[in-house]
Amino acid sequence: MIITIANQKGGVGKTTTAINLSAALAHTGVRTLLIDLDPQSNTTMSFLDPRNVDRSMYEVLVENLPLTDIIVATSVANLDLAPSRISLAKTESALVGEFDAPFRLKDRLAGIAERYEFIIIDTPPTLGLITVNAMVAATHLLIPIQSSYFALEGTDDLLETVEKIKARANPDLQLLGVLITLYDKRTLLAKDIHEQIVKVFEDKVFATIISRSVRLEESPAYRASIFEHAPASTGAAEYYALCEEVIARV
Ligand SMILES: Nc1ncnc2c1ncn2[C@@H]1O[C@H](COP(=O)(O)OP(=O)(O)OP(=O)(O)O)[C@@H](O)[C@H]1O
Ligand SMILES: [Mg+2]
Repeated sequence: MIITIANQKGGVGKTTTAINLSAALAHTGVRTLLIDLDPQSNTTMSFLDPRNVDRSMYEVLVENLPLTDIIVATSVANLDLAPSRISLAKTESALVGEFDAPFRLKDRLAGIAERYEFIIIDTPPTLGLITVNAMVAATHLLIPIQSSYFALEGTDDLLETVEKIKARANPDLQLLGVLITLYDKRTLLAKDIHEQIVKVFEDKVFATIISRSVRLEESPAYRASIFEHAPASTGAAEYYALCEEVIARV
């Protein structure tokens, strides 16, 4: 299972979901690889000191370095990480004119995908070549949508990109589900937005909703997933419930 987490809107909870879903999977004993494809490297920084990262997904995608050369074990048992660095921002310009540019990640994963039961890919807030690589390589797509007034703005473009990728490069790509994030159950607006999202995505919307929580917001600063930082918190319970739903759906 290769799950790409994507939404070209910034700050909707892609990285928070990538970190905590993969940590939850690893905690249940599932061999999991987390791939950071965002030049902002927020996922990487949640586990490592960025100064210690000298080789990253940039070298894998552009210089054809084997993935195994950059994968590191994390502090979480069963969870490995393929880190990012700011240099990843040069990927698109470096791959201009390369005929296999959208297939680089898929090709690099070929040798190692069977070592992991789940591979989770965090993507940047764009629909550019990096996100396209993640969608071409994936078996499933998970779309986090922030519970906010403009929640559904941009999803047309996202779904259009998915359809284009399914038409040629990856016909088997499936929408695993839509995850509502940063939810504030006290507001009427949040309930309204929830209804709107369900109207569009119907049963693809996960029953699990991720509430807005300080614990989730602060855990990356402690270089920990929510399960290490605040195991008894609502955020931990919610991401654990998401993990169970994900396993049930695939
Ligand atoms: N459920 C939550 N409760 C509180 N804060 C959250 C929650 N989810 C995410 N955040 C915070 O919101 C900000 C954006 O979240 P995150 O980095 O996961 O989004 P993103 O979609 O990966 O952003 P980008 O598009 O920039 O990569 C971060 O500061 C994060 O800690
Ligand atoms: Mg992010």
